[in-house]
Amino acid sequence: MSPGKLVIAIDGPAASGKSTTARLVAERLGYVHVDTGAMYRAVTLKVLRAGIPPADGQGIARLLETTHVALRREGELIRVLLDGEDVNAEIRSPEVTRAVSAVSRHRSVREMMVREQRRMGAEGGLVLEGRDIGTVVFPDADLKFFLIAGIEARARRRGEELRARGISPDLGGLIEEIRERDSLDSTRDESPLRKAEDAIEIDTSHLTIEEQVRVVVERVRAVGEGKGA
Ligand code: CDP
Repeated sequence: MSPGKLVIAIDGPAASGKSTTARLVAERLGYVHVDTGAMYRAVTLKVLRAGIPPADGQGIARLLETTHVALRREGELIRVLLDGEDVNAEIRSPEVTRAVSAVSRHRSVREMMVREQRRMGAEGGLVLEGRDIGTVVFPDADLKFFLIAGIEARARRRGEELRARGISPDLGGLIEEIRERDSLDSTRDESPLRKAEDAIEIDTSHLTIEEQVRVVVERVRAVGEGKGA
């Protein structure tokens, strides 16, 4: 049985396994995968290109008036479009990663992104991953997951990801960067990173990708059947 049209929220800190899990779960269920972090990264790229300091909330709010961020599906890949330009590679750069939490804390940025994410989710059949999906964007999501993992495991995974793209990071630096971003994301005033009360927590430190995907898919199927979907 295929669980139709549910909204699934996957939140968690940096490099906790959200993207891989969300992508594969969406694939298995025939759902659309929405990587909301990619949207915040695209806005950050535009802010950096415009030379606006990430702390300048007013400057960023003005820039957003002429900014369009969209996700487009191309086969199994989701492409992030910034004003129509495919920025999939640039948004993963170390410069964007360093600035993204500072840009994401502004209310104007959050309002615009949340509006777009809700619009995409109106029809259901979606796996959204981010920091505030279960708490703010879709507090009524059919199922919420909160992924966590030890800092070493997260830094190792991020390192592997970067090496696959030809960047050789040092592990200590990655641990620092992840800690810093988690701290900024968890302590900001606007929709901070936190686990929704009704979210299912999964520690992925010692799980294989297949195991963590299976846990999520089984839960979704159970809820989908309960709803007669
Ligand atoms: O892949 P990783 O977990 O490292 O980060 P990401 O999901 O691409 O998110 C990048 C940044 O965007 C986060 O550190 C947050 O500052 C911000 N973000 C957010 O504020 N709210 C979301 N729903 C998603 C991301």
